[in-house]
Amino acid sequence: MAFPPSFIDELISRNPIEDVVGQYVNLKRSGGNMFGLCPFHGEKTASFSVAPDKGIYYCFGCHKGGGVINFMMEIEGLTYPDAVRSLAKRAGMQIPEDEQYQSRYRHQERLWALSKEAARFFNKQLYAPAGEQGLAYALRRGMPKSVLTTFGIGFAPNTWSALTDAMRQKGYTDQELIDAGLVSEKGGRIYDRFRNRLMFPIIDVRGYVIGFGGRVMDDSTPKYLNSPETLIFNKRKNLFALNLAKKTKLGYLILVEGYMDAVALHQYGFDCAVASLGTSLTEEHAALLSRYTDQVVLIYDGDEAGQRATRRAIPILEKAGLQVKVLRMKDAKDPDEFLKKFGADKFKILLEDASNRVEYQLNAIARKYDIREDEQRVRYIQECAQLISTLPSSVQREVYGNRIAETGGISFDAMKMEIAKAYKNRLRREKKVQEKKDLAPVQAVQPRSRTIHYEDVKSAMAEEGVIAQGLQDPSLLDLCGDLQPEDFSSELLGRVYKQIRNCQDMGVRVNLAVLEGFDLDEMSHIAGIVQRQSGPVNERAMKDYIATIRAESQKRTVHTEDDLLALRNKLKESKGYKG
Ligand code: CTP
Ligand code: MN
Repeated sequence: MAFPPSFIDELISRNPIEDVVGQYVNLKRSGGNMFGLCPFHGEKTASFSVAPDKGIYYCFGCHKGGGVINFMMEIEGLTYPDAVRSLAKRAGMQIPEDEQYQSRYRHQERLWALSKEAARFFNKQLYAPAGEQGLAYALRRGMPKSVLTTFGIGFAPNTWSALTDAMRQKGYTDQELIDAGLVSEKGGRIYDRFRNRLMFPIIDVRGYVIGFGGRVMDDSTPKYLNSPETLIFNKRKNLFALNLAKKTKLGYLILVEGYMDAVALHQYGFDCAVASLGTSLTEEHAALLSRYTDQVVLIYDGDEAGQRATRRAIPILEKAGLQVKVLRMKDAKDPDEFLKKFGADKFKILLEDASNRVEYQLNAIARKYDIREDEQRVRYIQECAQLISTLPSSVQREVYGNRIAETGGISFDAMKMEIAKAYKNRLRREKKVQEKKDLAPVQAVQPRSRTIHYEDVKSAMAEEGVIAQGLQDPSLLDLCGDLQPEDFSSELLGRVYKQIRNCQDMGVRVNLAVLEGFDLDEMSHIAGIVQRQSGPVNERAMKDYIATIRAESQKRTVHTEDDLLALRNKLKESKGYKG
């Protein structure tokens, strides 16, 4: 049977891939990925990877890969429906076999689609005459248009029914508007909940618009009006801007209190900021954060309430296995004010102060070894040397090197040599990797699977690019415009493209796991595309890929026409025609 997409969606979020795989494989985190020994082929070095944020696994050795459902199929030898059943059971979910249960999911899908439409509506209003004041307010607060676009910020007009009318016209019912928390009800009539407010859409990590926060433009109260709790919106489980911050390359997440703080941080280059949604931090928030990072920088307001909240938050975060640094605001009320007053460079100094990781990492290494045993002591010193060799300043290397020499009971000269050796080794390794990349023959880009082959490698690389980017940041798919699956040189990649475009259009989460009709070999190949993707995920790269696909596709059609022409001429010749 076919399961409703939103059921699969919930199944996947309730079965984090790292947890499910973790039942079979011992995983260790390394950056955004986790690594372990591949359960599908014998190996001594860990080439099996899991990417929690992308929801996939992929083995760089045997090239098996896919989503959490594929993993269950592969490891337990189950069919697709049975793998789904087993995961549902694991998460304590009921299988949507009966009509009533299915309809709940359909309802949820409608609410997601409605919320997305509402966000579009608000965003349009910001640039319409009705939104003049809203736009002026946003600009006055120092938000450039690019930031308004990134966050999809909008404006709710100062009327009772602008949104209601627009959504009714799109075919949404009053009940759906109520259930999405977009309207209030009085005496059997409904009216727009958000009026005359700057609107911040709240988007979950899967890309669904789930609610809104609306700010007044003067001193009236409440300053922020938020969506109520609904079937799709739960404040305790979601964080503002995590949909963006989860893609950061900075290696940590910044947790702040305010929408405006998170927005300002992104604006000034700290694209790792998230905000709690006007509630105090919950264990669910902490668990969510820990899926994307192991280090959180906490920046609450400098006032007494902020400090109290900080003290409360620290143990919650630590319990979820997160390393916590606290940044105390100086000479400004909150990060937004600080950045606008002093700029990004000053902020970076505060941040570096708070997030000096060396100490912490050295302690973590120390905990792994019993340095009373010689053999372990040697490994302890070597691992520390490796870490210290990555420090950019010679003063730092000397200070920390000295300290380790002391704890390890060796001379500083010996330690210095160890650090130099670690440094050289790393350089050599990096060089080798680069050489391998540079020398890789064209065949290397051919899929490993014997059943999948690229005819037009140049186009296929771009097609892989579109798919990898689309699966990681579905909003980029909007750039594809009228690019057709038929423009793809690879039939397989064209099919993937078609399905993810469909999902995006229907407002269903774009995710590897919702793909249908691919066998395990093909899924592995697709997972590999996403997991090996290493360039930047952004508009520019996406546009380049699209242009390449278009150009190559055109070349192919021209060629076929040429070929046809040549064929016709040949025919004519053979039959004795002329001209
Ligand atoms: N908040 C809320 N309802 C309010 C006030 C605050 O939900 N009436 C939440 C919002 O999520 C807000 C956060 O608490 O972002 C922090 O409040 P505050 O520091 O007052 O907001 P800022 O984001 O700093 O907003 P601004 O700079 O526009 O005053
Ligand atoms: Mn503020």
